[in-house]
Amino acid sequence: MNNPILPITTHRATDGSLTIDGVSLSDLAEQHGTPLYIYDQATLDDTVTRYRNALEVEWTHGWEIAYAAKAWLSPALAQWATKQGLGMDVVSEGELLLAIDAGFPVKRIHAHGNNKSDRFLRACVTSGVGRIVIDHYREAERLAGICTELGTTQAVWIRLNPATAAPTHAKIETGSATSKFGASMADGAAEQIAAFLLREDIPLMWDGVHFHIGSQFADCAAQTEAIHRTAAWVTQIREKYGWVWHSFSPGGGWAVPYTPDASSLTPEQAIPEITRVLNEACATHQLPHPFLVLEPGREVVARAGVALYRVGAIKQAGDVTYAFIDGGMADNPRPSIYDARYTAILVNRDVPATRRYRLAGPFCESGDILIEEVQLPELQEGDLIAVPVSGAYQLSMASNYNATPRPAVVWVYEGEHHPIQPRETLDSLWSLGN
Ligand code: LLP
Repeated sequence: MNNPILPITTHRATDGSLTIDGVSLSDLAEQHGTPLYIYDQATLDDTVTRYRNALEVEWTHGWEIAYAAKAWLSPALAQWATKQGLGMDVVSEGELLLAIDAGFPVKRIHAHGNNKSDRFLRACVTSGVGRIVIDHYREAERLAGICTELGTTQAVWIRLNPATAAPTHAKIETGSATSKFGASMADGAAEQIAAFLLREDIPLMWDGVHFHIGSQFADCAAQTEAIHRTAAWVTQIREKYGWVWHSFSPGGGWAVPYTPDASSLTPEQAIPEITRVLNEACATHQLPHPFLVLEPGREVVARAGVALYRVGAIKQAGDVTYAFIDGGMADNPRPSIYDARYTAILVNRDVPATRRYRLAGPFCESGDILIEEVQLPELQEGDLIAVPVSGAYQLSMASNYNATPRPAVVWVYEGEHHPIQPRETLDSLWSLGN
């Protein structure tokens, strides 16, 4: 099927049912129940190949693709990322230890966060992460104290606040001057950290700068403006302190389309633009070309993931026809938090979409609407619905709302399928004291 939002291996079998890499979604629902999340490795591989191909052409000065684990992390994904040679951005002790336990190379991990606990910082240092990205001055002091006590030196970057807001939903914009993230280049906060890191008695080795201006933006003008500002700031620091960057990361955040008509920013569009501006900035300021670290999260996993739900009932309310499904805001809070728009597709029959439905979950509030309006074939109880582009920020943000176990997850590759995460059980919820 040539559909830009489904996994690349999606097809209709001769009986009309939907398959991913040859595996029938109806069979998976039968075996594992619903809601069910399915990840297609071929789509994951393809996305990374596209990043790699663009970077190989556009940036010959060294680069890394550091997957932002907050989009979705599981042992299987960490093992896949290891084989793909990716780096990884983690923001908590949980993400760090999950990745390490799965065998992910710790040197390829860098640690983010605006309020890292001493416990997390200590876990980063003792496990040997490649970089810790310092958010503010006190964090630099606390980290230096921990390294002094442990008798070790840690490599760090500074997270800069470029005061350029990404064009995206307010809740996922992180680049404006009042954002909680990063140190301002404009008011001296970033320079104060720099001066501290460059003191001889401080056991921190500063070799790079980073910013991340937000998530799900489809136009990289704000990101390229932030590159210009960062290069100008690095130039000032070079003049004053003699320091110059080795590494640079403009974060992640490129938009993926959740519906066929939505705008997006593909690696083929963004990478030539980012690298063109970075080259320009290096030339303007006579800076060395940095090692470039891109931090995509959503774009790596979103399209590879599909959520599968079963229709429980159809109900008319005024002029709205509801299709009730067995998942919603607990496994996907994105529509209610970010007004995210999805589409859906009937799995078990290939018939024309003739009717407008509102897809609502079983959770006990009116906001539990997964899709406000979607055109689908005439539905019946027991039908299976697939929601594409469900791979990012769904399982990682899923909750146990209404004491609901979180879904099972299946990995599909070359006609084979493996459960990689069992459905939570009520027993496991009780044992957590829920
Ligand atoms: N780097 C840093 C420092 C980040 O904070 C993030 C995302 C990324 C990279 C990856 O951004 P991406 O390429 O995935 O857009 N829960 C929200 C998204 C929050 C993003 C948080 N930071 C959502 O569901 O849309």
